[in-house]
Amino acid sequence: MSERSEQGGGVRTDDAAGAVAEASNARGKAVPGPRLRAALADIPTYKPGRPAAGGATSYKLSSNENPYPPLPGVLEAATAAAAAMNRYPDLGCSGLIAELSERFGVPAAHLATGTGSVGIAQQLVQATAGPGDEVVYAWRSFEAYPIVTRISGARAVQVPLTDTEEHDLDAMADAVTERTRLVFVCNPNNPTGVAIPGEALERFLDRVPRDVLVVLDEAYREFVRDERVVDGLDHYRDRPNVCVLRTFSKAYGLAGLRVGFAVAHEPVADALRKTAVPFGVSQLAQEAAVASLRSEDALLERVSALVAERSRVVGQLRAQGWTVQESQANFVWLRLGERTGEFAAAAEQAGVVVRPFPGEGVRVSVAETEANDLFLGVAAGFRKQLASS
Ligand SMILES: Cc1ncc(COP(=O)(O)O)c(C=O)c1O
Repeated sequence: MSERSEQGGGVRTDDAAGAVAEASNARGKAVPGPRLRAALADIPTYKPGRPAAGGATSYKLSSNENPYPPLPGVLEAATAAAAAMNRYPDLGCSGLIAELSERFGVPAAHLATGTGSVGIAQQLVQATAGPGDEVVYAWRSFEAYPIVTRISGARAVQVPLTDTEEHDLDAMADAVTERTRLVFVCNPNNPTGVAIPGEALERFLDRVPRDVLVVLDEAYREFVRDERVVDGLDHYRDRPNVCVLRTFSKAYGLAGLRVGFAVAHEPVADALRKTAVPFGVSQLAQEAAVASLRSEDALLERVSALVAERSRVVGQLRAQGWTVQESQANFVWLRLGERTGEFAAAAEQAGVVVRPFPGEGVRVSVAETEANDLFLGVAAGFRKQLASS
């Protein structure tokens, strides 16, 4: 039973689900703070990739960012938009939606924008799942999935990747119950880089009940070269329960501006419009995204250069003796188990900051040739050490 009490003018509800936060007053004295939802207690805080320490040879390979500066025309468009920053942005992102609709051949009503695709992922969970519901996804995968799931009060159902770092789609389909409201499919998967062939994904989608939303998170779609991996938009067209997530943060190089979009049938796109933070996508981001879409040739060139570097890095790692899965994203994954921290420290010493997942492995963004070479040097040295220990 809830017991309600008036304190300092605010109504507080005492129930098993809430927890009084510790706070301190203006004089530094500990006082009880507001009651927060118990669901927040064990939610890990999102960890960003560590920044580079600075200095001439220090590279941040920890956040899968794009090493290139903005595409041609983008800085100019963003700067022009900045001059009107006293105004709220276009709430409906109409210019960007029109551009996306044209570019991807989908109705404007099937598009929704958000503060990065992670913002949209959170909205999708909010729109579908609450306490008592379940959200299924592979693990390890994008670290925001457990966070956005638990914020909604839903239960996270994590299905281990296979030994070859692939989504175990049969196990994921088996994990869907009458309580499942949403399934995340990260394709290609962060942090392993492995992508799911279209046929396997179709078979999986056939097994998921039509009232369960399947979110195809394609943050790295532009880097996919394996022809067996089908564009999520082809899966979405005939399936009202499929939503495709894309971002301007990776290939398009706008990570700092926070803009992503979803393609989904109207009920889901409508739900995204309802759950959006009003004016969340700044006018700078909207204009920069439009200009980026109009710079397709330069985009493709840069993506091709990164893909070529990816092949070189994977080839050299294998030549050094590492087992590396084929990455379809702008990063590579090294399984290191207990030696993960040691590897990350060695990399940092050499001037590259990688992303360690303690006890599992490191994810390393593919970036400038010099940065990739520094990483390859660390990997070679580590390999020799492993051989001699
Ligand atoms: C799989 C995946 N989805 C979504 C995102 C979020 O990207 P953003 O919010 O910048 O669009 C990331 C970022 O690392 C990611 O790896």
